[in-house]
Amino acid sequence: MSELRVLFVSPECAPLTKTGGLGDVSAALPAALREAGIDVRVLLPGYPEVMGAVDAGREHARIAVFDPPLQVRLLASSLQSGVPMYVADCPHLFLRPGGPYQDGALRDWPDNAVRFALLAKVAAILSSEETPLDWHPHVVHCNDWPCGLTPAFLRHMSDPAPTVMTIHNLAFQGNFDPAILPQVGLPWSSFTTQGLEFHGRLSFLKAGLYYADEITTVSPTYALETQSEALGFGMDGLLRSRSQFYKGILNGIDENIWNPETDPLIAQCYGAHSIEQKLGNKIALQRRMALPVDSSVPLLGVVGRLTHQKGTDLLIDAADDLLALGVQLALLGRGDSQYERRLQGLAARFPNAISVSFGFEEELAHLIEAGADMFLMPSRFEPCGLNQMYSQRYGTPPVAHATGGLRDSIVDCTPESLAAGTATGFLYGQPGIAGLVDAVRRALSVHRDSSSWLRIQKAGMGRDFGWRGAAQRYEDLYRQVAGVKSQNGEPGAKTG
Ligand code: ADP
Ligand code: GLC
Repeated sequence: MSELRVLFVSPECAPLTKTGGLGDVSAALPAALREAGIDVRVLLPGYPEVMGAVDAGREHARIAVFDPPLQVRLLASSLQSGVPMYVADCPHLFLRPGGPYQDGALRDWPDNAVRFALLAKVAAILSSEETPLDWHPHVVHCNDWPCGLTPAFLRHMSDPAPTVMTIHNLAFQGNFDPAILPQVGLPWSSFTTQGLEFHGRLSFLKAGLYYADEITTVSPTYALETQSEALGFGMDGLLRSRSQFYKGILNGIDENIWNPETDPLIAQCYGAHSIEQKLGNKIALQRRMALPVDSSVPLLGVVGRLTHQKGTDLLIDAADDLLALGVQLALLGRGDSQYERRLQGLAARFPNAISVSFGFEEELAHLIEAGADMFLMPSRFEPCGLNQMYSQRYGTPPVAHATGGLRDSIVDCTPESLAAGTATGFLYGQPGIAGLVDAVRRALSVHRDSSSWLRIQKAGMGRDFGWRGAAQRYEDLYRQVAGVKSQNGEPGAKTG
């Protein structure tokens, strides 16, 4: 058993609280690290769903933070995977119905700056001399802007643990009014461009990128893209200046939850050797979404946030051209109301070809992965993306813009890759409508040749998208940043 201790801080963790891929990652990566023998513990805010999973008696400490002081109870419990969990219980900030960042009407909570400054501060306390615990992490791993202030707080504390900051999406930066600095106890002297300031605002993400010892993001391609002006969201200069401390580690997926052979949420389980059973899911999906039940019509699936990032508008604009190719479209998503309205309009215009469902429905997401023939991801940018990995595992080849993690996890179908048996999907170069429609056309022409299609399906289903490789890379990074050697004496080398 290695001695490495890691505090993993996140604003989301599935299934307790999830708005997207960060929730999945924050459950699965710690579980994989624990499996590798690392003593990793997760810190979460005390949202209602999290408090529901904590045994009320497990209070470890009371902490007062900020000025005027806010009282926090530190509770201990564990996640479904057995990974120990600490909870920062501050009912006044976290115990309210709604999502982690927004209320039920998708409006940001007005006190998000204080809410996540508090999460970051508790993480910093647990990673410094001030901790009330007898457990001291070697490394604190911060995820996205809600944890960005942790490395900044630690600059002013004794015996700080080294920090790793992971970018899951550079578009979300947590930029706030700097007036809260005195309240959260950060000095005005740190509010400069060489510190916390980003265009006159206090940027939580920038704080993390500026002060963390190491920065990671969730795919190697996105690590390069974020250092360019086009996808750097104003942080590209900082990331370029820190490039020697910055790298991409491709996410994995939870292969137990996303496994068509055992998935309890789909109509019919199947594997690479019983792929014909997949059809039962297509029929169930067509029924569920009130589309004409017809096994011969290619069914395109989409699951995700309805946003500019995800290219929802491109999909809407491409709908006429896509339908002209003789397909059905099943979409599940939630997001910008203008996109929901336009999608509703499309579904009303083409009731026999387009069906949409607006909500967050875990079960339907699984059924779409299993029941669709192809999975569309027209994202303008995609730090990693998980759905394309799920869909490959479900024998549902993705059609996607070649960006970020999509590029790193899909092998484009070319005559060569098809012949070699490595093709797993269809990538296109430009994020516009023409590229998307052409790629679907290309996919449909391969789909008509059932033996080629089967090759692509099987190649995708056979790929290893598990977390083991990524967990090893994080372990190497933790050891390097903490200077903790593994059992065979090498920093960053594999332990037995
Ligand atoms: P992002 O984090 O940018 O939203 P990812 O592809 O990394 O994108 O992860 C999205 C995750 O959220 C996947 O597990 C996906 O299945 C899930 N998801 C997204 N929208 C919905 C929805 N409307 N209903 C159910 N699951 C959803
Ligand atoms: C973000 C990104 C997504 C990524 C996820 C998990 O939400 O948008 O691409 O897969 O984080 O890292």
